Amino acid sequence: MEITAVRGFNDVLPGDTEVWRHIEDNAFRVFSSYGFSEIKVPIAEKTELFLRSIGATTDIVEKEMYTFTDRHGDSLTLRPEGTAPVVRAYIEHKLYTNPVSKLYYSGPMFRYERPQKGRYRQFYQIGAEILGDPSPRADAEALQMLMRLFEEINVRGAELNINSLGDAHCRPAYKERLKNYLSGVKDRLCDNCLRRIDANPLRALDCKSPGCIEATHDAPSIVESLCAPCAVHFDKVREHLGLSGIEATVNPRMVRGLDYYTRTTFEITSAGLGSQNAIAAGGRYDGLVEELGGPATPCFGFAIGIERVALIIKEGGVYRKPLAVFIALGAEAEKKGIELLKAWRDRGIRIVEDFSDGSLKSRMKRADRAGARYAVILGEDELKSGTVTVKDMKSAGQEKVAWDLAPDRIAIG
Ligand code: HAM
Repeated sequence: MEITAVRGFNDVLPGDTEVWRHIEDNAFRVFSSYGFSEIKVPIAEKTELFLRSIGATTDIVEKEMYTFTDRHGDSLTLRPEGTAPVVRAYIEHKLYTNPVSKLYYSGPMFRYERPQKGRYRQFYQIGAEILGDPSPRADAEALQMLMRLFEEINVRGAELNINSLGDAHCRPAYKERLKNYLSGVKDRLCDNCLRRIDANPLRALDCKSPGCIEATHDAPSIVESLCAPCAVHFDKVREHLGLSGIEATVNPRMVRGLDYYTRTTFEITSAGLGSQNAIAAGGRYDGLVEELGGPATPCFGFAIGIERVALIIKEGGVYRKPLAVFIALGAEAEKKGIELLKAWRDRGIRIVEDFSDGSLKSRMKRADRAGARYAVILGEDELKSGTVTVKDMKSAGQEKVAWDLAPDRIAIG
């Protein structure tokens, strides 16, 4: 019997892997230019780490974790997200001896959710965390970096929604007010929200059930319940976003599915993805490092869902195709081709060789299907004159170019 992949766990095949590489390469480049360094953390952690960071009454911890007992009898969990492992590593390796750490990571995460378009049980995130910076400018700069990345990789129509969830001073009072309000509309809430009224009343604001949406319509707003320092922080974030020309919509009903957030939270959505339309999300988590046993350290971070961004880029048709396909005609040209291709690739030209036989016409068709902008042909004539024929697949124009000038001709167009 045929063995297939586990439901919700996907293969990423050629054609898609180029898009993924395009996203990751650009993210790493942009994040590096903002002073971030890469960190690699394990795929499995002690289960307790996620219980203590994500929160015992969240969907992730209540029903989505891949938890198992290893041969030693320890309870391990496949990471459902990257922030808690990064914070664990930050404390364990005393990275807090640096005033500020800016870290990024990329890799698979695991949540037992119902699979659908854009939602999988193994999915990939690229995340970034700033540890040790309390300033609202850090929040705004991270958001600006993210929007810049989306612009550079042609993710159009990304919309930024922001909120503030307050902190240990103002959130408890808000929670009480919300609890009182929810108690008054109890009979209209779904079972899940009803059960969580005491432990996690904020989740009701985010519940998708029509009864809860209606019942919470007039619920008190968190943004109007912030203490003065949280309100100032939130104003400053918005001010800095404005100065960077970034539009943000304040959505006081946006609460996150993880409990560690304080103050600024955000989600970036993109139309065209259906219900799973968040392509990146995150926020500030000023209490988490201390909660997990480290020194008090204000932090801000986010994670991007690679599958969702890849879907958008593919639908937009903009991704990394080969710039040129090289076609050698005859054994001598093939030999010379090895040397030329090496020199051109050393100069960063994205060129692939067509190894097929057949007529020049059929090989040109293959180059076109690969999505290449140019076909570069080396035949007998060209060998003699030290040139290649560069054919523009869009305009169909062609010209002979000397070997050492060919990379510039292709790169500049
Ligand atoms: P999150 O909102 O749970 O946040 O996930 C971030 C992004 O990962 C989502 O916006 C979405 O694009 C993607 N994602 C989440 N679940 C799935 C899924 N089942 N299938 C496909 N994509 C998914 C976090 O994980 C936080 N750690 C973000 C953060 C970093 N906050 C502070 N630092």
